[in-house]
Order: sequence, then structure tokens, then C-alpha cells
Amino acid sequence: MPKPLFILNGPNLNLLGQREPDVYGRETLDDIRQLCAQRATALSLSIDFRQTNQEGTLVDWLHEAKDAACAVVLNPGAYTHTSVALYDAIKAIGVPVIETHLSNPAAREPFRHHSYVAPAARGTIAGFGSTSYVLAVEAAARLVAAQ
Ligand code: DQA
Repeated sequence: MPKPLFILNGPNLNLLGQREPDVYGRETLDDIRQLCAQRATALSLSIDFRQTNQEGTLVDWLHEAKDAACAVVLNPGAYTHTSVALYDAIKAIGVPVIETHLSNPAAREPFRHHSYVAPAARGTIAGFGSTSYVLAVEAAARLVAAQ
């Protein structure tokens, strides 16, 4: 088995299920964790699924991924639109990062249209609700298989 796939979740995603369900759906983050685990197992990958509300913790986890992960699925939440530190961390680690969003930020408020993460990420999947995560796990599996 390759190294685990890190699936890292940023601020406010711990409130999924209660938080703006019309935007983010009714599934909880634990429901999404289970969906990812099922898909990853079918693709012979293991996952390490985490959430934090702290920007610096996301940076630390990206650094950890440098040696410990085969790839990273990252939903940075609102830090997507503010964090040069996440951009720098992704550039520093050399592990493919797949930016992932439940909603489609490009179709929402103008302040969500810019992503600091996108230019450093291998690619972005957005707008498919919890299926965005499943698609990101599939993309990660293809990247790992191609390595
Ligand atoms: C989000 C989109 C961000 O704009 C927002 O700040 C979030 C969630 C998403 O998954 O759709 O917290 O990353």
C-alpha cells in the first residue's frame, strides 16, 4: 500500500450538516469521511482525514504530508481566499495537492472568486457537494498510480 492520502479540512467544516445546508448540504464531515474511506479502500488507498479551524495547523499538516502522504485532498475553507501561507506550503512540499470544495466558489460572492491555493494545487474540484471529495480521492488515486 502507498503512503496514506491526507484529506485536510479547514475552518468551519466541522459544522457541516448544520452550517448553511442550502449551500453545503446536510451531510456531516463524518459522513464525508466515510464516503472518502469507502472510495479509497476500493482504490487500494488508505486515508488520514483531519479538520482544523487554525491556518497554522493546516500549514503544519501540509509540511507533515511532505514525507508522510502520497497526495493531499485539501478543502481550505475560507483560507482559500486569504492564505499566502497555504500557497507557500503547497509550493514547498512537492506532494500533489487537490483543492476541493463542496460549493462552487466561482459562482458565489466576488470575494470567493480568487483562490490563493489554486495556482499551487495540481487541480481543483468544486461544486459537487460531497461528491467533490469522492472525485478528489479518485483523482489522487490516478496521480499515485501514475507516479
Ligand atoms: C468551501 C468554500 C469556501 O468559500 C468557504 O469559505 C468554505 C467552504 C467549500 O467547500 O465550498 O468554508 O471551501
